[in-house]
Amino acid sequence: MQPRDLSDHSPYVPGRGVEEVARELGIDRSELIKLSSNENPHGPSPAAVEAIREHADRVNVYPKSSHADLTERIAEEWDVTTEQVWVSPGADGSIDYLSRAALEPDDRVLVPDPGFAYYAMSARYHHAGVETYPLSIDDGFAQTAERVLSAYGGERIVYLTSPHNPSGSVIPLEEVETIADAIAEETLVVVDEAYGEFADVDSAIPLVNDRDDVAVLRTFSKAYGLAGLRIGYSVVPEEWGEAYARVNTPFAASELACRAALAALDDPDHVEESVETARWARDYIARELDAETFDSAGNFVLARVGDGTAVAEAAQERGVIIRDCTSFGLPECVRISTGTREDTREAVDRLNGVLADLELGAKA
Ligand SMILES: Cc1ncc(COP(=O)(O)O)c(C=O)c1O
Repeated sequence: MQPRDLSDHSPYVPGRGVEEVARELGIDRSELIKLSSNENPHGPSPAAVEAIREHADRVNVYPKSSHADLTERIAEEWDVTTEQVWVSPGADGSIDYLSRAALEPDDRVLVPDPGFAYYAMSARYHHAGVETYPLSIDDGFAQTAERVLSAYGGERIVYLTSPHNPSGSVIPLEEVETIADAIAEETLVVVDEAYGEFADVDSAIPLVNDRDDVAVLRTFSKAYGLAGLRIGYSVVPEEWGEAYARVNTPFAASELACRAALAALDDPDHVEESVETARWARDYIARELDAETFDSAGNFVLARVGDGTAVAEAAQERGVIIRDCTSFGLPECVRISTGTREDTREAVDRLNGVLADLELGAKA
């Protein structure tokens, strides 16, 4: 007995974890600076931690009212109806819910290349095909309507990522509208704003109210520091609202995740500090790293270093975990998440040492 043919399903390649690397190097985890998964170096909001403690003894019940409270709170925040808010286990969960709601077998989705792997993974789980539109390193991964539309061939979902992972580029709202205007009525444009808080541009959520063909993804994993709890959401067109009850996995967003997200929303200082640090750190990396970098609106910076695998491996030996971008199809690049000011300075210093050593080695 075998699972179905999964040969065209690629496994997700996550950034390397601290425990895993510390064990491998035989060192204490505190000696490592982990900048490989775009996590929040300030940790979660203290208010979220308190909410988790407070509700820990109530996890014997299914998350009903916490889910309803969170949905309502998010709807208020964005001035949309509660039906338009699809709470999910991470933004990944919302990608699955949209796949379930939109895709028939043999439909196709259009995704950026390079880009976030889960769009394609989710589409394939739902028996859909995957087409790509190229983003080019030569123009700094510029995202334009023209680029997307020239690859568009009637796909059911078009994914836009703003800020884009792994490059950090953004797509202006006018371009999103141009795309939505140009494509078929039955195509949904999904704007992934997992890193939206870090960008200095407006969210596409107001567009969702003006039209019936745009949805937006958001998460508590990044600016809110709740990646380990798995909580996110999508904002969908009004016409899609009632599909949620038919496609969501019951109670997939847990009691503690919903409670923590509610508390985090009431702690704007934590988000503000997280965003401020990320903006400082991405400017610092761009300025101080001895390599070509790309303008980023996220909490990470993509750097062209020659041999991404060699640099990531050598960095790891010096206690800095960064993301080799080979799995994104960018073997010459690494992605460096923003850390605290102290960790970012230290990491850039060690990375410059690695780059200098590799350059000397190449010349020898
Ligand atoms: C562009 C993008 N979208 C979505 C996600 C999924 O985030 P989560 O499922 O943790 O909310 C990520 C995670 O790294 C991401 O980079």
